[in-house]
Amino acid sequence: MILRPLNIDDKAEAIQAHHEMAPDGFDFLLDSTGSYDETAPWETYLQRLASLQNGESVPESWVPSTFLVAEVDGQIVGRVSIRHQLNEFLETRGGHIGYGVRPAFRTRGHATEILDRALKIARELGVNRVLVTCDDANVASSKVIEKAGGVLENIFEEGDEKIRRYWIEPKLSE
Ligand SMILES: CC(C)(COP(=O)(O)OP(=O)(O)OC[C@H]1O[C@@H](n2cnc3c(N)ncnc32)[C@H](O)[C@@H]1OP(=O)(O)O)[C@@H](O)C(=O)NCCC(=O)NCCS
Repeated sequence: MILRPLNIDDKAEAIQAHHEMAPDGFDFLLDSTGSYDETAPWETYLQRLASLQNGESVPESWVPSTFLVAEVDGQIVGRVSIRHQLNEFLETRGGHIGYGVRPAFRTRGHATEILDRALKIARELGVNRVLVTCDDANVASSKVIEKAGGVLENIFEEGDEKIRRYWIEPKLSE
């Protein structure tokens, strides 16, 4: 598996992944404008991701973050967003790292590997304690987080929301 930024040739496959994950309520193509707009030029979207990564023009409710796709045998199998810091929303709900695997590629250990790699990247970015969250009902994701060494701090509850909040102290790459 390689984790890499999206590039100019990924448009069709990435949009397909975005559609596939919509039924999970998961935004494959995260977008700091709110939601990904297929009618806008792909290059503009890629530029927005690049500015988010280097901390330029970060909207008020967002933080600098690194967006990478996971590629296996030439196919995009998932993606990860690594937030360089937390804000109030991320501290309670979103966490430092958000990941997703396309339905056709699940239960093969890809999410486990994506989180493992993302933790090392977070550590390299200077995040010593990484918050990773998931819905209380998301058994697969809580397994992934616990396998990565996640220690449950609490379950944040508000209205119908129940979010498991885990902390992980990643090691620097061996
Ligand atoms: C959660 C998600 C990332 C898991 O991806 P994945 O590549 O299938 O995960 P892995 O194969 O690395 O491991 C998942 C673990 O959960 C188990 N699992 C997978 N689906 C499961 C399910 N529906 N119910 C219970 N356990 C499940 C697997 O058997 C595996 O456990 P094991 O290591 O003990 O065998 C994927 O289902 C997904 O993208 N879901 C939608 C988006 C999402 O929820 N993202 C996480 C946000 S916090």
